[in-house]
Amino acid sequence: MKLKGKNVLITGAAVRLGAQLARSVAAAGGNVIIHYNSSQAEAEALQAELQQAGAEAHLLPGDLGQLSRTTQLIERARQHGPLFALVNSASIFEDINLRTTQLADWQRHLDVNLTAPFLLSQAFWKAAGNQPGRIVNLLDWRALRPGTDHLPYTISKVGLAGLTRSLAAAMAPNITVNGIALGAILPPSDGREPSGILDNVPAGRWAELEELDETLLFLLTGPAYITGEIIHLDGGRHLV
Ligand SMILES: NC(=O)c1ccc[n+]([C@@H]2O[C@H](COP(=O)([O-])OP(=O)(O)OC[C@H]3O[C@@H](n4cnc5c(N)ncnc54)[C@H](OP(=O)(O)O)[C@@H]3O)[C@@H](O)[C@H]2O)c1
Repeated sequence: MKLKGKNVLITGAAVRLGAQLARSVAAAGGNVIIHYNSSQAEAEALQAELQQAGAEAHLLPGDLGQLSRTTQLIERARQHGPLFALVNSASIFEDINLRTTQLADWQRHLDVNLTAPFLLSQAFWKAAGNQPGRIVNLLDWRALRPGTDHLPYTISKVGLAGLTRSLAAAMAPNITVNGIALGAILPPSDGREPSGILDNVPAGRWAELEELDETLLFLLTGPAYITGEIIHLDGGRHLV
């Protein structure tokens, strides 16, 4: 129960990995602020599930593409008490490339995947004052080894990796900023499971969700001397 009584805001927490992150924070005794955009029913179901398990859970709706309203999310989250941590998990992941990417696609990915985490982090840091806190950004193995696929998504994560390191220095000593660079953990939400995905994963398997829980909790409750670190949870995908 290392997060007992601590408030943790998780963006995109209603579904998939965000919901998994919310469950792991709640299991560690944390109070979860479940941010969501379109998945209201899933967010409410998750809130009920966490509350039934004895955790405190609050809902925070908001479109991260509406950048002028993004910082208000921190103020609204703080209505439930001071925030200990911010987990930037919400993301857009579209299968478009150099030929097919339109300006609007590019802008949408950068707004939600990079600019919104920046604005949230900045507001979180300002509100924290001298209090200790943690920021964890959900990255991708592509962030440190960008290729040609999912172009705007990949570049947004490259930017988020750079932001992780820059903010770690700027927010020291009281706020740590770290990243988790994921590989194969959950197939895309559109139901397409890319074939041959394990061919380039030295571990030869998908990640276990429990491995994500452990990594998140390490970054939220482990040594505060670790900052600006990007942990690859990808079975070695970024190496080959
Ligand atoms: N799944 C994987 O194997 C994998 C691999 C590498 C990296 N990652 C990273 O891990 C994180 C979670 O992955 P995932 O697969 O669970 O993500 P996902 O299925 O793509 O989930 C998207 C989440 O982002 C939220 N979101 C999208 N657009 C939004 C907007 N305009 N405003 C607010 N929220 C918005 C959605 O909220 P609503 O549903 O409420 O609209 C949803 O909760 C992401 O950062 C992703 O890049 C995942």
